[in-house]
Amino acid sequence: MTSPTEAPKHVVVGVGGGIAAYKAIEIVRALVEQGIFVSPVLTPAAKNFVGELTFSALGSEAARSELFSDQSTPIPHTYLGQKADAIVVVPTTAHLLARLAMGLADDLLTATILATRSPVILAPAMHTEMWEQPSVQQNVEVLRSRGYIFVGPVDGALAGGDSGMGRLAEPEAIVKMVLAVSKGFSGPLSGRRVVVSAGATKEPLDPVRYLTNRSSGRQGYALAEVAARLGASVVLVTGSDRAVAPDVSRNIEIQKVTTALQMKRALLDSMPSADVVIMAAAVADYTFEAAPEKLKKGDGPPNPQWLETPDILAELVQQKTAGQVVVGFAAETTDVLSNARAKMVKKGVDLLIANDVSDPSIGFDSADNAVTILSPSDEPFYLERSSKDSIALQVLTRVISLLLKEKA
Ligand code: CTP
Repeated sequence: MTSPTEAPKHVVVGVGGGIAAYKAIEIVRALVEQGIFVSPVLTPAAKNFVGELTFSALGSEAARSELFSDQSTPIPHTYLGQKADAIVVVPTTAHLLARLAMGLADDLLTATILATRSPVILAPAMHTEMWEQPSVQQNVEVLRSRGYIFVGPVDGALAGGDSGMGRLAEPEAIVKMVLAVSKGFSGPLSGRRVVVSAGATKEPLDPVRYLTNRSSGRQGYALAEVAARLGASVVLVTGSDRAVAPDVSRNIEIQKVTTALQMKRALLDSMPSADVVIMAAAVADYTFEAAPEKLKKGDGPPNPQWLETPDILAELVQQKTAGQVVVGFAAETTDVLSNARAKMVKKGVDLLIANDVSDPSIGFDSADNAVTILSPSDEPFYLERSSKDSIALQVLTRVISLLLKEKA
């Protein structure tokens, strides 16, 4: 990867098979003018719309489209994928979105994208009907959650005299994104610090027993992972020992805690440098003065003194400064929306994610979730049952809008 101050040395411009392919020519030219080494890669379908020769003439090296018969480089996809500081695909067709979402590598461009660790920018263009298909939208969602960066599409004139959503973003906007990526931008949360709490706390009763709850931590872990994929540096304060550890190479610092008090300390320490704090943890509401020695059955049923734990979320909101976004969760089993709304007001959060934990197909320890996002200013927004990653992306999308509003 290039350092944040220098321009990328090498950008692969992938060209998909759509009418907007001719606009990729302008993008190649603009990037070369910025001193960037540009390798054009066409899909076989792209060659129906534009000639390889044009890209060879304007790019920094000959355009490629073949995975197997390239005489100059025997393994072109690894050469290109490893060398690229960024890959941009113009236009990204519905078919390309599907192939990328599936992880297919059936031509040089898709194989190159799989062979890179650098940011990939997708600029989709297609007719509105295609863009709005649930299958296409689902692929977009999957790719976004994996960290692909989207530019456009936008609303405007389409091929064949039509008009609507699906037009390629302006070439200048695409070039701007490639240059931004070169400065270290890797997603809409780039440069932001996101603190996420996850899992259950454990409150010791004696040296061998504790009080805990059914939270697995999976939703919090999904939030941490997706925030990191969107470019954030993430602190994950977790009481969970059940959720699969996130990929720490993605800028996620894990702080393991056990009790509510430890969780409070870790979060209050991280709060001043955070842009966003998301309290997905299921914090015990009570703790005990733990017995120093194991309680013995012969001594009769224990009767420890129950002590209220601090309301961490409320304390975080008290410490909140301008520009910070604080998100709470509400796990409810009855009157979910009205209880959650009351909690949002009482705790003073910017967003509250209401979870119906009485439904076993969602919530605790399941792979899926279904939530309602509440905010003081908008109508409740119900997110249908989907993966916890997908819920995380939707929540973070709203967080991003709040951060942008704060900046405006
Ligand atoms: N929370 C917290 N500290 C606590 C208890 C809860 O920070 N001691 C946070 C949770 O992480 C969550 C939100 O507050 O983001 C709501 O948690 P929930 O358990 O649903 O509500 P409680 O405040 O505990 O209220 P109740 O148990 O009465 O529903």
